[in-house]
Amino acid sequence: MHEKSIVLLNNAVRDELAAVHQYMYFHFHLDDQGYDLLSSLFRRIAIEEMTHVELLAERILFLKGEVIMEVGEPVKPIHDVAGMLQMACQLEESTILDYNRWANECSANADSVSKKIFEDLVAQEEIHYDQFDNEWDKVKQFGERYLALQSIERSKTISAGTAPAA
Ligand SMILES: [Fe+2]
Ligand SMILES: [Fe+2]
Repeated sequence: MHEKSIVLLNNAVRDELAAVHQYMYFHFHLDDQGYDLLSSLFRRIAIEEMTHVELLAERILFLKGEVIMEVGEPVKPIHDVAGMLQMACQLEESTILDYNRWANECSANADSVSKKIFEDLVAQEEIHYDQFDNEWDKVKQFGERYLALQSIERSKTISAGTAPAA
């Protein structure tokens, strides 16, 4: 009955999985470069995107569809911090546009529950966008000095012996 919704929900699963992979990739690299704050931000948001996959999958199964666990895009090997934040902002922005459109499509097809799922996700993606955009602004404004501060924080934690176990 809700074939179109199942297609849209699966499109969203593909995009969410792509975000999980890309953000975890950024998380590893930022951790490796010593930028704890940004590394944790990407890790936390990757986990939130994973919970979005779960929500979408539950709805697909409820509609008696098959969850297609395909990653939308291969991970882009970006290693510079500004490039990572720029890409994350673009990902969130295009997701916000898509989910708004797909909410309207679900509504037009008399599927108000899927519509609400997309609307709730838009609200969360807007928060992600805002968090990445704030960090990107700081990197643009303060450049290497902002990143150096994060490295110094890590060194302080390590020398104080309070570093979290790796
Ligand atoms: Fe998401
Ligand atoms: Fe997001």
